[in-house]
Amino acid sequence: MSSGTSDRKTRPATLTDLARKKTAGEPIVMVTAYDHPSALIADEAGVDMVLVGDSAANVVLGYDSTVPVTVDELLMLTRAVRRGLRSAFLVSDLPFGSYEASDADAVHTAQRFVKEGGADAVKIERGGATVERARAIVHAGIPVVGHVGLTPQAATSLGGYTVQGRTADQAERLIRDALDLEAAGCFAVVVEAVPAPVTELLIERLSCLTIGIGAGGSTDGQVLVWHDLLGIGTGRVAKFVRRFADLRGEMVRGVGEYAAAVRDRSFPASEHTYGIAVEELETLVERLNTAR
Ligand code: KIV
Repeated sequence: MSSGTSDRKTRPATLTDLARKKTAGEPIVMVTAYDHPSALIADEAGVDMVLVGDSAANVVLGYDSTVPVTVDELLMLTRAVRRGLRSAFLVSDLPFGSYEASDADAVHTAQRFVKEGGADAVKIERGGATVERARAIVHAGIPVVGHVGLTPQAATSLGGYTVQGRTADQAERLIRDALDLEAAGCFAVVVEAVPAPVTELLIERLSCLTIGIGAGGSTDGQVLVWHDLLGIGTGRVAKFVRRFADLRGEMVRGVGEYAAAVRDRSFPASEHTYGIAVEELETLVERLNTAR
């Protein structure tokens, strides 16, 4: 299943369904979503996985990085998305600062996203200490997605929002991180902004699912940010983004027409207006006049 509604599953997707797709060589479609209507649309369009990404910080909450977003903010968005999904598999990002310090923190936060948010799995960024956090969360019975390459929570230490793995040293470290995350029990790894040949070397060595974003076409699936693919956001988008629609233009046009219609009093028209029976109105006027 890749698009359209005709072959849509009507039961929640499982890890087994996702693994089957990999075995069958069927690309896995993942998209971010942050609210209920978007979740309904993603599900109806037949995507396989929905990510409540901490990119919500940038694209819906107006922060200038993913660092400030809180557990409570992402939990609220996760609950809204959960209520809109019937079949897609739901993954939520654990925000920066909510899982790194200890295994106990990591398990506690992941449990909140599953228990209070309704997530099927959680995603955490980078290798290093994160590998142990991934292991602890998996050990607690929660499926985990790793994330290597450009990991926005660490953008400052990575030198900004730039391609990762362009030197042999960097690429080797990135491949090792992904292998460590798989060994820790991650069922999938997101690979972001990595040269395609490095991704190919990575997936030759990895058996878990790989979901790419700016990592070429060899991964098991692709993910894009909702606002990027639909053309809702403003400003520069990364090289790896393809805009499949220009909704922002359409939204500005619609709101502009609404504003014009209010100003020239063509809205609301009679068809948007409620009436009242003549006798009720007459009675009301009479009462008001008597009460004067
Ligand atoms: O937060 C996010 O949207 C992500 C995707 C870019 C993978 O992590």
